[in-house]
Amino acid sequence: MTSGVKAAGYQPKGKDMISGRVKSLDAILATAEKKSLKRSLGPFQLTLLGIGAVIGTGIFVLTATAAQKAGPGMMVSFIIAGAVCAVAALCYSELASMVPVAGSAYTYSYAVMGEIVAWLVGWALILEYALGASAVAVGWSGHIVGLLNDIGIHIPHALSVGPKIEWGFLQGGEVGGIVNLPAVLVVVFVTALLVIGTKESATFNAVLVVIKVAALSLFVAVTLPMISGHTENFHPFTPRGWGSPLSSEGVGVLGAAASIFFAYVGFDAVSTAAEETKNPQRNVPIGLIASLLICTVFYLLVAGGVIGSYGAQPLLDAHGLPFEPGSPELYGSAACQAANAPLVCSKEALAYVMRQVANPTLGNIIGLAATIALPSVVLLMMFGQTRIFFVMARDGLLPGKLAEVHPRFRTPWIVTIVTGIFVAIAAAFLPVGTLADYSNAGTLFAFAAVSVGVMVLRITDPGRVRPFRTPFLFIVAPLSIIGCLLLFFSLNIESKTLFAVWAVIGLVFYFLYGYRKSHVGRGIVEVHEPEIHDIEPPIPGTE
Ligand code: ALA
Repeated sequence: MTSGVKAAGYQPKGKDMISGRVKSLDAILATAEKKSLKRSLGPFQLTLLGIGAVIGTGIFVLTATAAQKAGPGMMVSFIIAGAVCAVAALCYSELASMVPVAGSAYTYSYAVMGEIVAWLVGWALILEYALGASAVAVGWSGHIVGLLNDIGIHIPHALSVGPKIEWGFLQGGEVGGIVNLPAVLVVVFVTALLVIGTKESATFNAVLVVIKVAALSLFVAVTLPMISGHTENFHPFTPRGWGSPLSSEGVGVLGAAASIFFAYVGFDAVSTAAEETKNPQRNVPIGLIASLLICTVFYLLVAGGVIGSYGAQPLLDAHGLPFEPGSPELYGSAACQAANAPLVCSKEALAYVMRQVANPTLGNIIGLAATIALPSVVLLMMFGQTRIFFVMARDGLLPGKLAEVHPRFRTPWIVTIVTGIFVAIAAAFLPVGTLADYSNAGTLFAFAAVSVGVMVLRITDPGRVRPFRTPFLFIVAPLSIIGCLLLFFSLNIESKTLFAVWAVIGLVFYFLYGYRKSHVGRGIVEVHEPEIHDIEPPIPGTE
């Protein structure tokens, strides 16, 4: 796995408050120097990279979830989630440009805050990347099922929706399906591509960006003009209130923001490309902010179009209480079975609205665009996951076997297949909104940790070269931490509890395994040669 284990005699540079184990930044940078990647990316390519990784299931599908949680107030939710992402992204970029190696937030945390925090961040990133990939796969499934349905091929409900699961347990089978087969199939397909070492080229990424942006533009062009005739659709604007980080329901404008945050996840692709960027101090923030801004503007226009053309009020049950978003009870309700079912019933929100307010062909064009583009988002997220697992295994915190490289394909095939199995199981049985919320919980924790880390490193190691410096760090980073905490606590109680349970499992695993096996703990410092063509940068979509 490693072609050079060097420089033993690890000297801790400082005591990690908790474990006493901090990975030497110099050792990490020595790994990075070995790669000496060409600095070729400019602001335009970075922006394309960001948009390619960001636009996906969030806008094409979760708009319906956001509507059930917040009604038209979801427009404000998009702004809140985008703003939190913007400040988190600026913090992320400083560390990404200083520590430009595989493993993203996990690696940065290892160098700055020590092994236990790094482990927890890496463990949380499994939620972000693996469950995020599952969520996008389920979003893809909704679209392919809708498209096939339109041409007369009906995938049975039992095979296109997972069972009803609450708090991790099966709740009878009367309303849910059995397994989400299309979602599993797309994960198997992407896993196979990753095992044989497929990467997205910059050209391919650019084509997908054009397809996605064209689809959203078409949607906006058709639906926005309809607003003037339906201004009443915006009333009440916040039918479920503003929400609260103290509530367990995870609804209202804040609850929807916590869910729709998923629509912005993926911009870290830009941060992690810092190493391959010309003049990163200037271009990384341009790429990040431009891609986030473009996405936010599109999301707002799309949300406005959805509300103005078709309406986005939450659906209430027979007792006048709102249904749980995306629940089998919601889908099984009489209103959702009707021909002109509300938006919140749809698993392909934008394609559905287009079919309803314009015509089936335009709806199918939107659905087709999502069907073509979403697998690449699954690929990017699974790729991110394999990269994190790989680095954790290389550090000794996970079994080294996981980092084994395939002799022919030169890819970490074992870790890729393990990831594929995990992603496929989650996609088979859980609904898209739940998966996105779980993924967000992990992402928000990791972003908060990175925001702390970047301030710590400014204080403990102020003299180190920073290719990109976060502007106004001591304002931006606290804002990022507050924003991440606000959104985290605005998730529903199930997601928060899942995260807590996941963290405890992670800690138990760490003390049983990683603590003893850790290379840093055993005093080994490794310098790894770049030998896996697709595990180290260049990252997908940058070549
Ligand atoms: N932001 C990505 C999506 O919405 C993960 O699919």
